Amino acid sequence: MGLGRHKLIVLVLGLSITVLLYLLLPSGQPEEGDRKAEVPRSDPQSNMNITVRTATLTGDWPTFYREAIPRNALEGAERFSVLLLHGQIFSSKTWEDLGTLNILAEHGYRAVAIDLPGYGESLRAQPMSTEKGRTDYLLQVMESLGTRQPVLISPSMSGLFSLPLLLQHPDRLRGFVPIAPVGTKSFKPEQYKQIQVPSLIVYGTLDTNLGSQSLESLQLLPNHTLSPLEGGGHACYLDRPEEFHAALLMFLSKLS
Ligand SMILES: *[C@@H]1O[C@H](CO)[C@@H](O)[C@H](O)[C@H]1NC(C)=O
Ligand SMILES: *[C@@H]1O[C@H](CO)[C@@H](O)[C@H](O)[C@H]1NC(C)=O
Repeated sequence: MGLGRHKLIVLVLGLSITVLLYLLLPSGQPEEGDRKAEVPRSDPQSNMNITVRTATLTGDWPTFYREAIPRNALEGAERFSVLLLHGQIFSSKTWEDLGTLNILAEHGYRAVAIDLPGYGESLRAQPMSTEKGRTDYLLQVMESLGTRQPVLISPSMSGLFSLPLLLQHPDRLRGFVPIAPVGTKSFKPEQYKQIQVPSLIVYGTLDTNLGSQSLESLQLLPNHTLSPLEGGGHACYLDRPEEFHAALLMFLSKLS
């Protein structure tokens, strides 16, 4: 009996508090929500000379990309595009976070980083299982972006996409920047020796696995420059961003 009354009191108290809260709060709550929605997100265009945008290329393969364009580039004076791929556990965001997109745009290049099919924000796109599929994919991306002959930056896993393109369509690349790419051994030494595309071979001196392995093939490219990043591991551009950016800008300036 006593216990029952106790429960009743708790119930009544609980109900009263609920009703009280309901009476006190309704005018404030929805507004709070509205206000939150209106708060502007951090402005990606705070650097006045650069336009940064994100978008999705449509096709059979919805491809998400981030792009930094120098805003004051004069018509016709705009320099060429730099297309950035990414490694297995990375995405286009890696190049944004590292500042690479902005740095390239600041120097007058149109910098575009994509999320490869099956990665980052392109998760829903089917990964390409054949060499031809991956080559055609990159060619289609380049066409959609309106860039005929970009400089291609290709770390690690993305070598599966970039190396077939380099070796089968060298005329479509203004320059090539391999960073310890996967898949170099799929091609013969004679194939590398025929490619005249100017190449900047970047690797971390501590990357004794893929770094030194890919170097054996890549240094057969006749027109190459070596850029060993002292103390860098496999993702050496993350370990030594300043050295990486300096070497990249130097290489690009020679292609202009
Ligand atoms: C914008 O461009 C001008 C001239 O090219 C330069 O002097 C200035 O430092 C740039 N501003 C920023 C924020 O990069
Ligand atoms: C090699 O590449 C550089 C750019 O890095 C270019 O200026 C030069 O003309 C190229 N040399 C040959 C022989 O193609």
